[in-house]
Amino acid sequence: MPRIPYLDADACIGCETCTRICPKVFHMVSEHKAGIHNPCGDSEDKIEEAMDSCPVACITWQD
Ligand code: F3S
Repeated sequence: MPRIPYLDADACIGCETCTRICPKVFHMVSEHKAGIHNPCGDSEDKIEEAMDSCPVACITWQD
């Protein structure tokens, strides 16, 4: 089973880092909020790189 990323939109400050690192999974849904458009769109390593780069650590793996 692939792990599924979760993005806490309330905590996201819209820095766009995740969308630049991993655009197949993350995109901007508004000027200041990112969202997940394809949770399995890239490798777990790439998703984890985006997670680790988020300044407010609002992207996590779902249980
Ligand atoms: Fe938001 Fe973090 Fe991405 S602040 S835009 S979820 S890197």
